[in-house]
Amino acid sequence: MKKIAMIGTGYVGLVSGTCFADAGNEVTCCDIDQDKIAKLLQGSMPIYEPGLTELVTKNLKKGTLQFTSEIPQAISHAEIIYIAVGTPMTVTGEADLTYIKQVAKTIGEHLNEYKVIVTKSTVPVGTGKLIASIIKEQTDTPFDLVSNPEFLREGVAIKDCLNMERAVIGATSENAWQLIADLHRPFTSKIVKTSVETAELIKYAANAFLATKISFINDIANICERVDADVTKVSEGIGLDSRIGQSFLQAGVGFGGSCFPKDTAALRHISQNVGYNFKLIEAVMETNEQQRVHMVNKLVSALGTLEGKTISVLGLAFKPNTDDVRSSPALDIIPQLVTMGAEVRAYDPIAVSEVKKRLGYQCTYSENLYKTIENADACLVLTDWQQVRQIDLTKVKQIMKQPILVDGRNLFELETMEQLGFTYLSVGRPI
Ligand code: UGA
Repeated sequence: MKKIAMIGTGYVGLVSGTCFADAGNEVTCCDIDQDKIAKLLQGSMPIYEPGLTELVTKNLKKGTLQFTSEIPQAISHAEIIYIAVGTPMTVTGEADLTYIKQVAKTIGEHLNEYKVIVTKSTVPVGTGKLIASIIKEQTDTPFDLVSNPEFLREGVAIKDCLNMERAVIGATSENAWQLIADLHRPFTSKIVKTSVETAELIKYAANAFLATKISFINDIANICERVDADVTKVSEGIGLDSRIGQSFLQAGVGFGGSCFPKDTAALRHISQNVGYNFKLIEAVMETNEQQRVHMVNKLVSALGTLEGKTISVLGLAFKPNTDDVRSSPALDIIPQLVTMGAEVRAYDPIAVSEVKKRLGYQCTYSENLYKTIENADACLVLTDWQQVRQIDLTKVKQIMKQPILVDGRNLFELETMEQLGFTYLSVGRPI
């Protein structure tokens, strides 16, 4: 049993803190946002994540998990201090380290004995050293620094955390490495031992590689559309080669979310800073942006013009099982449709309020799928929600003004759509 302070109760901090508590450690999750902490203490989660409420409630009851905004006390009490605050993207694509620096200063001010300080936030290579120097400006108390990046996916974060495929740990001492490795043994036996800098880079390399797979298959999809080939079969045909693997080869509207867009931009920035021209990552980002435009072009090709047309956008979250809309394709595409004169109706089972905060009343919103579709000139699928996947297509055809469906997630069988009489434009598949 270890005493852990988790500073930052965003996605990463809240999920990993709760999972460490569930494994029997004594975890104090801290945040400067008092309102958030008050809600968490009442069992109300700041994010939608399947299974999280139950696991938090269970561990609050057991006493293994606590929430507080008294960060200094949590620091003094812990033997391991995790930093899990946000590193948002600046306009130049660089990671903003404001919160990291603030936390490092607070840790330095309250470090009362030797502790192990761990970064879980995604941070540019060299941030570990920066954190150490900020702490040393405040105190002579000894400490070790560890980089232990997070690989959980939103929507399945609890499962990813409790059954992680690997843990990556880069530490400044053997003692610190062993301590953090022991913490991870209940979750995985595959532990990669590295330096702090290597661990920091692994996080960016992992996300950039996955983003590359997606942009690669989207480029192949665009070729498929020109040669009458089927990208879903290409994915199957190449993915069964174990060296390639089948995951992350689903062509579509491209990647969104709080990680891939931010981390690819940050990696480009890191490489520019060290004088390396990382052309591949540039292309990955460009293909991803183009893919969004491509969806709008598909609508235009089906409808002629969008002026005065009613478009139903099905799915606003960047992926299913989350209400996260950060860098979601919908946030880019809806304003484009509105500018082109379309009346947009948007559906999402849980992300409507998040999109409303960002797009306001540029469009109308609903959590009722069929109401969104009624009398529409075309539907545009942007998120592969189960509700959309399982939609009654016969009913959809009956209630639409024209049966035009542009599918940015390749959810439906070509044959079925043809039999039902839809004009069906998906990604990288024959029309
Ligand atoms: C991603 C990584 O998968 C996690 O390992 C990592 O820990 C996390 O970022 C992070 O850095 O915190 P996440 O952003 O939750 O996780 O979402 P993913 O499931 O990876 O999906 C990202 C985007 O790629 C989504 O928009 C999804 O629709 C898209 N995608 C994914 C595709 O377009 N095609 C695919 O084949 C797979």
